[in-house]
Amino acid sequence: YNIPTPTNEPGNTYAPGTKERETLKAELERQAGLEVEIPVIINGEEIKTDTVKQVVMPHDHKHVLATYSQAGEKELRDAVEAAMAAKESWSNMPWQHRASIFLKAADLISGPYRDVINAATMLGQSKTAYQTEIDAAQELADFLRFGVDYANQIYQMQPDSMKNIWNRLEYRALDGFVLAISPFNFTAIGGNLPSAPAIMGNVVVWKPATTAILSNYYFMRILEEAGLPKGVINFVPSRGSQVSEVVLTDPRMSGFHFTGSTSVFQTIWKTVGENITNYKSYPRLVGETGGKDFVFAHETAQADKVVAALVRGAFEYQGQKCSAASRAYIPASMWEEVKNGVVEETAKLKVGDVRDFRNFMGAVIDKPAFDSITSYIDYAADSEEAEIIAGGTYDDSVGYFIQPTVIVTTNPNFKTMTEEIFGPVLTIYVYENDQLEETLTSVDTASMYALTGAIFAQDREAIMHLERRLSGAAGNFYINDKPTGAVINQQPFGGSRGSGTNDKAGSVFNMIRWTSPRIIKENF
Ligand code: NAD
Ligand code: ALA
Repeated sequence: YNIPTPTNEPGNTYAPGTKERETLKAELERQAGLEVEIPVIINGEEIKTDTVKQVVMPHDHKHVLATYSQAGEKELRDAVEAAMAAKESWSNMPWQHRASIFLKAADLISGPYRDVINAATMLGQSKTAYQTEIDAAQELADFLRFGVDYANQIYQMQPDSMKNIWNRLEYRALDGFVLAISPFNFTAIGGNLPSAPAIMGNVVVWKPATTAILSNYYFMRILEEAGLPKGVINFVPSRGSQVSEVVLTDPRMSGFHFTGSTSVFQTIWKTVGENITNYKSYPRLVGETGGKDFVFAHETAQADKVVAALVRGAFEYQGQKCSAASRAYIPASMWEEVKNGVVEETAKLKVGDVRDFRNFMGAVIDKPAFDSITSYIDYAADSEEAEIIAGGTYDDSVGYFIQPTVIVTTNPNFKTMTEEIFGPVLTIYVYENDQLEETLTSVDTASMYALTGAIFAQDREAIMHLERRLSGAAGNFYINDKPTGAVINQQPFGGSRGSGTNDKAGSVFNMIRWTSPRIIKENF
C-alpha cells in the first residue's frame, strides 16, 4: 500500500501569550481537580478491583491526582485469555485496517487529545511543558505513524521468484501473545511498547509503570476511540513481580517488549531461561535498559558548546532520561572555561512545580527515586575524591525536588562516574591533555552500559579517532551534540552491553522482531 508518508510531528513552543499555552493551562487545572479512577481494561471492559492505589503529583505529593485499580492474579490470567481470544481476528484483519487504527490514534494524539495527554504527563510524571511536548505529543505520534510505515516496508520485502515458481514471504504474527512492560519516564515509550507488536498483528498484555499511569491510561482510551478491537491490547496496572509469575511464564508468551532498568530486565531474562522448556515458541526478548551516558570533550572542542550540552543533557527532565549526560571528561586546558560556564548556567535553572512554566525542572518521580539519588549526592559530599561545585541540596517536604548537581572527581572510576543514578546529577573528570588514550579507555570501560555518548571536537582527525576508539561505548553516538533527544526515524534509539538488546526503538529493526515469517514456495 502507498500509506500516507509520515513526517515528524511539529512541536508547540507554549511561549507566553500563545493560545496553546492558554489551553494547556486550562487542561492542567481541569485534570488537577478530577481524581480520575483508572480501571484495569481487559477485553475492552473496564474493571475495578479491590486493591485501589493512589497516584500523586511528584511536585506536590499530598495532591492525589488519580486512583487506579491494581490487577491481581485473576485479572492477569483473564488478560492473557482475552488477548488469545482476540488473536485470530486481529492477525487476519486486512493490514490497511490495522494500520488505519494506529494512524487515527496518532492524529487524535496530535490533534484533539494533545492537551489531555500532555497535561496528564506533566501532572503525573512532573515533566515541563517543553519536555512533555517532545514526548507525549510528538514522539508518541511519531512512533505510531512511522511504526505503520516500517511495517509496510517489511511487508513489501519479498524474495525472488522464477517463471514457474512463486516464492512468497508471509509475515505472520508471533505464535502466542506479547507481554509489554513499560517505564515511567516517557509516555511515548509507554505507548510504543504495546503498539509496535500490535501494528505487526500481535495481541498484547500491557503492564504500564504505575508512576506513569494517568498518561498511559489516556493513551489506552485513545486507542479504543481510534477503533482498536477489544482484547488486542489489555491494560493491566499491577505489581511487576506478579506479572512475571503469571504472564511471563505462560507457555503462550511469545514476545516480551520491555524498557526499564537493567536489573529488572536481567531478572526477567533469568525467569524466561528457567521456563524455557515450557514455552510453545522461543520468546522474542527485546529490552532497552539503563545507561551511564558520557560527554567527552577533546582539546579542540568549543567550550561553550560543551557547556550547553552538559547542562541540557544532564538536567532536562531532572536527568531521568536513559540517555542523560551523567559523566563528562574535560581536558585540563579547557576546564576553567567549562567549569565557569557550567556553574553559571546551572545556577540559572529553576526547579519547582511544572505548572509554573518558568521552571526548567520539576520533581523526581517518587520517594524511592528521591532517596536513591540523594544518597549519591551525600556520598560525593562525604568523599575526599569529589567536590560538589553546583547544587547538592534537596527538599521533599512538598515535592521530590533535587537541585541540579555537579560533582567533580579526581577518580575516573568514582561511584558516581560508573553507576546509573537516574537523576539530576552530573559528574566531571578533568583529564590531562597528554592522557587522552588512558581517558578514552576509562570512557569505554568505567560502566557496564553502552547507550548514548557524545564527543566534542573540531579537528577531523580527532573526530575520526574518537568515533573509532569508542565504537563499543554507545549505540547512539553524537558528534558535537548532547547525548539526549533522539528523534524517531532520524536517530533510531538503543544501546548494547548492559543497555539492552539494541533493537533500535523507532526503526524497522524493532518492528521486524514482532513477526514470525513463513516462506511459501508454489510451483506452477
Ligand atoms: P524499572 O525497571 O524500575 O521499571 C520498569 C517497568 O518494570 C515498570 O513497569 C515496573 O513496574 C516493572 N517491573 C519492576 N520489577 C519487575 C519485575 N520483577 N517483573 C516484571 N516487571 C517489573 O524502570 P523505571 O524506573 O520505570 O525506568 C527507569 C529505567 O529505565 C532506567 O534504568 C532507564 O535507564 C531505563 N530506560 C531505558 C530506556 C532505553 O531506551 N534504553 C528508555 C527509558 C528508560
Ligand atoms: N529517546 C530518548 C532520548 O534520546 C530517550 O533522549
